[in-house]
Formats: sequence, C-alpha cells, structure tokens
Amino acid sequence: MGNSDNANVNDLEAAKQLDIINQLRIRFDQEFEKTGKRRTYHIETFGCQMNSRDSEKISGILKQIGYEETDSEKADLVLYNTCTVRENANNRVFGRLGYLGKLKKSNPGMLIALCGCMMQEDIVVDKLKKSYRFVDIIFGTHNIFKFAELLQTRLESDRMVIDLWKDTDMIVENLPNDRKYPFKAGVNIMFGCNNYCSYCIVPYVRGRERSRNPQDILEEIRTLAADGVVEIMLLGQNVNSYGKNLETPMTFAGLLIEIEKIEGIERIRFMTSHPKDLSDELIEVMAKSKKICKHLHLPVQSGSSRLLKLMNRRYTKESYLELVRKIRAAVPDISLTTDIIVGFPGETEEDFLETMEVVKQVGYDSAFTFIYSKRTGTPAAAMENQVPEAAAMERFDRLLKEVQQSSARSAGKDVHTVQKVLVEEVNTQDPSLLTGRLSNNLLVHFPGDMGLIGKIIDVSLEESKGFYYMGKISPAATITG
Ligand code: SAH
Ligand code: SF4
Ligand code: F3S
Repeated sequence: MGNSDNANVNDLEAAKQLDIINQLRIRFDQEFEKTGKRRTYHIETFGCQMNSRDSEKISGILKQIGYEETDSEKADLVLYNTCTVRENANNRVFGRLGYLGKLKKSNPGMLIALCGCMMQEDIVVDKLKKSYRFVDIIFGTHNIFKFAELLQTRLESDRMVIDLWKDTDMIVENLPNDRKYPFKAGVNIMFGCNNYCSYCIVPYVRGRERSRNPQDILEEIRTLAADGVVEIMLLGQNVNSYGKNLETPMTFAGLLIEIEKIEGIERIRFMTSHPKDLSDELIEVMAKSKKICKHLHLPVQSGSSRLLKLMNRRYTKESYLELVRKIRAAVPDISLTTDIIVGFPGETEEDFLETMEVVKQVGYDSAFTFIYSKRTGTPAAAMENQVPEAAAMERFDRLLKEVQQSSARSAGKDVHTVQKVLVEEVNTQDPSLLTGRLSNNLLVHFPGDMGLIGKIIDVSLEESKGFYYMGKISPAATITG
C-alpha cells in the first residue's frame, strides 16, 4: 500500500471513530439530562512522555463524549496507561490494581481500563485474564484511537473487552485531544523504534518505527500556535532518524527548519536523540536556530565501548565524546543530560569505571541513572554473566555520587545573567512566587503575578540553589507569547 492509500484508510478510520464519539456523546447527554450527573474519569500515566501524550489523546476522547475528569480513583472510569521499560514499572501497576479491585467492589458500576506498553506483553495479559477478572477494557499501544469504540463495546456487552494489536502502520490523525498545559504541548513526530538496543523492550511493545507526514506535524503545530502554545516538545524514541521511511524522505534537521518558521512558536524541544544518528546537519541547525532550546538529552547508557557493542548501541565511547565536543563547539552554552544503565550483563569494574570517566569528562547537567532490569524476550535477558544485584547497587550508588558532583559543577553557571523564561505555574510551595523554565530546562522561582503564566519573560537570575535559581523579573522585561 502506498502512502496515499494509507491516508484514505486512516481518514476513514478517523471518520468512524468520530461517529462513535458522537453516538456516545448523545447517550451521555441524555443520561445527564435524567440524572443531572456527568460520569467521571481518572487516568494514571506510568510511563514516558510518549505515554503521557497518549493519555492526553484518551482524555480528549473522554471529554468529548461527556465524561468529566477527577483527580481521585473514586471515579466511574479509571484508566492506567502502563509502562514496562523496567520490571518495577510492572510491579507498581499490579500493586495498584489490587487496590482498584477493592474500590470496584464498593462501586460495582465502575469501569477499569488498562492500556499502554505493558499490555503488549502476552504474559501480562494472561495474568490479567486469569487473576484480575474485574478489569473491563484492555488495549495496547497501537489502537489508542479506537478507545471510544472499545468503551462502546464494553457498555453494550458486559464482558472483558480485549483488543491488542501486534503492530500497525496506521497513523490516525485529527481525533480529539486534551492538553495538560495551554501554553506548551508535546507533538509526536514518529512512533515505534527500530533500534533494538539489546536490553530494551520498547521496540517489541511499540512496534516498528514510522514517521508522521511533515504536513500533518506542521499543521498540528500551526493549530497549537493559534491556540496559544508557545513551546513544543517533539517526541520520538529516536528523533534523529525521523523521516527515513517516508515516501518523500525528510531529515529531522529539515523538519526543524520548517517548524522554526511557524509564527507564535517560541521554543522547540525534542526527545530522544540517539547518538548514532545525530547528524552534522542537526548540529548546524541547532547552532543557527533562535527557537531550539539550549538543551540536549543524549543518552550514553554506558561509557565502555565493549558494553556499548553488546548493548547494540552502534557508537563507541570515543565517537560519543567526539559528538559531545562537536555539539559544545557549535552551541557553547548547551546543557547536556543523559541516561545511564549500570549492571548490564557482563559489566566489569573496568567497564563501570569507563562510564564514571565519561560522566566526569562530559560534565552532564543531570543524568537519569538506572539499574539494569531484565526484560523477557530481549537479547540481553538471555546473556550469561548477569551482574549480581548487590554489585549493581553498589555501582549505582557510586555513579549517583559522580553524577551529583557533575551537576553541582555545572549548576549556577548562569547566575547574575538575565534569561528568557517561560512562566509555567504558581510555585507549589509558596504562592507568592511563580515558577518558570529556562531554555536549558532548569527552573527559576521569582515573585510575580499569575497573569504571566504562559508568557515568555526576562528574568534576572539572582541566586543559584544548585538545581534551580531564585530570580526577579528583569525591569526591562520584554513579554511575548
Ligand atoms: N529511546 C530512548 C530511551 C527510551 S527508554 C533512547 O534510546 O535513549 C528510557 C531509558 O530507560 C533508556 O535510555 C535506558 O537508559 C533505560 N532503560 C531501557 N531499558 C532498560 C532496562 N532493561 N533496564 C534498565 N534501564 C533501561
Ligand atoms: Fe529502546 Fe534503544 Fe529504541 Fe531507545 S533506541 S527505545 S533504548 S531500543
Ligand atoms: Fe515509554 Fe515505558 Fe512504553 S518508557 S515507550 S511507556 S515501556
């Protein structure tokens, strides 16, 4: 099937889903007229930003059909959007499900839905079918757009509805959407992953890599801008390989150039960048851009070239460090963050020391550190020499100290300068303060009026508190957005 045939199929599917959404809307409006009450829903998101973005789509559908959101699990519909990247993510879901089951006993009309990456695993679904019969709807990562249809089926049938797809090339556009913030938004530019890092389950649960059409992405961003969004976060497991499988291929750097032209968008972020695909073209675009934020998340995973090979990352310690050097030369004030795994099978003390060395050399602004978690079905799970837990924990602690020292060294480097800040919210601890975000992703707290939320203003950074700043609005403040 060519892209245009795909487009037709996808448009038909969108029309079908919108039709179901309308039917449900009528049904729930009638119910509301009778009872005076709207049904409520609550969504818990367990995973990454892609997962959060999916939750916004489901939330959009629920609002459209007349459900109201509530922040407690005592709702008419509770949905868990799950993650399975590490074993503890799974354990959290099963723990919470026990509690939901009890809640449902006292409220038999309640519906429980599960979706997301964990549902793409057969063993999980088997366990649910056997021991968690009170779950009403189970679906995965490929058919979120069908949520209204699944809900309708459940309302009409009274049995567990399970709809799981192994993979799809469908990208259904123009369905409802419910953004968390009025002024910033995540935008999917691609789905799935083809990299098969040997420890990682994501390619198995998210399917193969497929890019959205640039026209659809640009149209979505234009609509967001018209709706008051000033900052966008482009989302993909490996944004640097964007566009490779399109009918008319386009590079990620090329896409950024087009996005930069959209009026109203002031800030562009993206995540995640795989070092193996980060091109010179991208570095050049970042250096020239007025809108791309001075922050790059560049997961290294390990500093040992030997382990990187076993991890199937397809770069070496040396090529990673060279990449960092090129980026720093082109964008001197960039903030670099990373992900690191300790305790990958076969990791020796020497391998680990190489990771410590890279952390020291790069001087990350911050790093997410993880203890390797064995994911059934991935190549690494079958590797010999699994590292004993105690050794992994001990290395993890040492790494954490190194990372903290590294971020302490880079913290505060912008103190006493004036920076552009996107005002995000009233400070959660002190309501006389506002909290805003710098281009490099650090937060600053400063006195100010709530009316500034969603605006980009100049803030003078008065004091560094390590991982954040205290500031004051610069007298010559220019307000945009
Ligand atoms: N696509 C992104 C990462 C997505 S998963 C990338 O390639 O960078 C987020 C992070 O979880 C990864 O960067 C990795 O550090 C960590 N991770 C993935 N699988 C893991 C596993 N089996 N055990 C521990 N950490 C893991
Ligand atoms: Fe996982 Fe690697 Fe894909 Fe990232 S690039 S999602 S770590 S397989
Ligand atoms: Fe994200 Fe977790 Fe799935 S990290 S892609 S929600 S397995």
